Amino acid sequence: MCGIIGYIGDRDVTSVLLVGLDRLSYRGYDSAGIATITNGELSHWKKAGKIRELNKIMSSLSIPASLGIGHTRWATHGAPNDVNGHPHISNTRKIALVHNGIIENHSALRKQLINDGHLFRSETDTEVLVHLIEDQLDLGMIPAIKHALSQVEGTYAIAVVCESEPDKVFIARKGSPLLIGLGKNDMFVSSDINNIITHTRDIVYLEDHDIGYITKDSFHLETLSGESVTRPVTHVDWNPESAEKHGYDHFMLKEIYEQPSVIRKVMSKYVNSPGSIEFKGINPENIDLDKVGRFIIQACGTSWHSGLVAKYMIEKYAKILTEVDISSEFRYRQMIAHGNDVVIAISQSGETADTLACLREAKSQFFKAISFVNVKESSIDRASDGVIYSHTGPEIGVASTKNYIAQLVCLYLFALKLGHNKQMISSEELDQKIQELQRIPEYIDQILKQADDIKRIAQKYALSREFLFIGRGVNYPTALEGALKLKEISYIHATGYAAGELKHGPIALIDSKLPVVCIAPKTSTYAKMLANIEEVRSRKGKTIVIATEGDTEVAKFSEDIFYIPEVSEDLTPLLTVIPLQLLSYYIANELDCDVDQPRNLAKSVTVE
Ligand code: M6R
Repeated sequence: MCGIIGYIGDRDVTSVLLVGLDRLSYRGYDSAGIATITNGELSHWKKAGKIRELNKIMSSLSIPASLGIGHTRWATHGAPNDVNGHPHISNTRKIALVHNGIIENHSALRKQLINDGHLFRSETDTEVLVHLIEDQLDLGMIPAIKHALSQVEGTYAIAVVCESEPDKVFIARKGSPLLIGLGKNDMFVSSDINNIITHTRDIVYLEDHDIGYITKDSFHLETLSGESVTRPVTHVDWNPESAEKHGYDHFMLKEIYEQPSVIRKVMSKYVNSPGSIEFKGINPENIDLDKVGRFIIQACGTSWHSGLVAKYMIEKYAKILTEVDISSEFRYRQMIAHGNDVVIAISQSGETADTLACLREAKSQFFKAISFVNVKESSIDRASDGVIYSHTGPEIGVASTKNYIAQLVCLYLFALKLGHNKQMISSEELDQKIQELQRIPEYIDQILKQADDIKRIAQKYALSREFLFIGRGVNYPTALEGALKLKEISYIHATGYAAGELKHGPIALIDSKLPVVCIAPKTSTYAKMLANIEEVRSRKGKTIVIATEGDTEVAKFSEDIFYIPEVSEDLTPLLTVIPLQLLSYYIANELDCDVDQPRNLAKSVTVE
């Protein structure tokens, strides 16, 4: 959470920073700020609210700066106001610092610094850093930053500028991502590649405990303990175009529409020829998939939902016991390692703090770890023994859509491969299943062509204050996902439930005002689902049903119905979720909510 950018070079520094911050704003949008150095002099501006508030105060200024740093904030310590926004400035006003992470021992440090005469302006944990650096500035910036970092407990990615060394942007990381972008005669620093891929795709990722600086045409990194380090330059293959809206009103809508092409891309990466699935990111000498005794999947939010779908697939096709847990729960329970257990982390960003912490903890207990991530070289990717990328490209909307679909496809292919390796699926069956999967993009296109039908349903129910989503089997996670999408972007309370659980409590909620979204494609649990829908209907609940094309039976119990093409049971989650994404999108739009940047949320949850 929180986004950092730094730039040094000949372009207009403030516009590079402001555009970069705009692209980073999905990491937090409580405030934004920048600091620049012009002719050796430090200046800074910060403003509470979204980046447009900062833009308003910057638009009339022309600043011939040579370098600068910027920050978008997701508030952890201190209210989201101007003063608590970053950059934080030293008492001498010579040093400016931006930070992502949490300084856990900030209270004790603050007390000590106040006793030593430092004047604090904000309520943030971050501010201690700038005072600690100021304390030892006589030694030079690198020793002063090292001194500061040696005293703090917690996590940080920082970018710092100082009048005494006006041709460098100083950087350091521990537990929060930070990278350098190598330009042509200019250099970038960022917490994320999304905002700099339009400038450069040559990236150097900092490791924990790295500290250093960039100049206009070089960079230097060493460890906190002073050993010099060489970090490789990685060429990122993301297309910068994909981080633009391309005429869509919102990134979320664009990303929903990108789903067919995302599936095609994933298939092209992992399916070699009919009947052959290959994951190059899993080295059999490191992890022998044929010997796995149990999988423990841990993830958060939407990624956890894809883990729940994966459980069905892995247990069905490979008969390998698979547990699925929310990372923030798994982490604080006793982990019991059993022979050949493998922990799986699923994460779009690859930076989710709880998922990363679980992975590290599991590895310390001798579990092997595989990750399913979108962002290459992210912390989760790098902490894993094997990786399967979802190849989604940049996902900017805070509500995850296209990456969910990509994760589902990757996990489905993974389950098929395991089953095929164990000879539980014949090559012929595998081939058929892959062929069916290859038709899914076309089916999603068909659904998207009927988006107006969903829009009408959305308009009809947009003023409801509460929704229930129900599903069974492979579509129970779809119910959870539909409810999560709706609540996160429209602020309407929504609950996802296993339909069979209705009569154990939630049925009491049902009255003539409650919209109940029923996910009821033709699957092995269809008859049971039909009975559940009848139960809702007979209590006057408003049933919005997602059904298989041609199903006239369920139509009798539907207030509104949306049909999806007929596919085999295991592929239904790839289709049923699409109308639910659109439903939440159109409802949020009706309510005038900020779809791409819903309140209180951030795309990358890098705090625990
Ligand atoms: O980057 P991750 O997949 O690890 O993120 C996990 C969740 O924070 C994320 O899925 C979140 O729930 C989304 N906002 C859901 O749309």
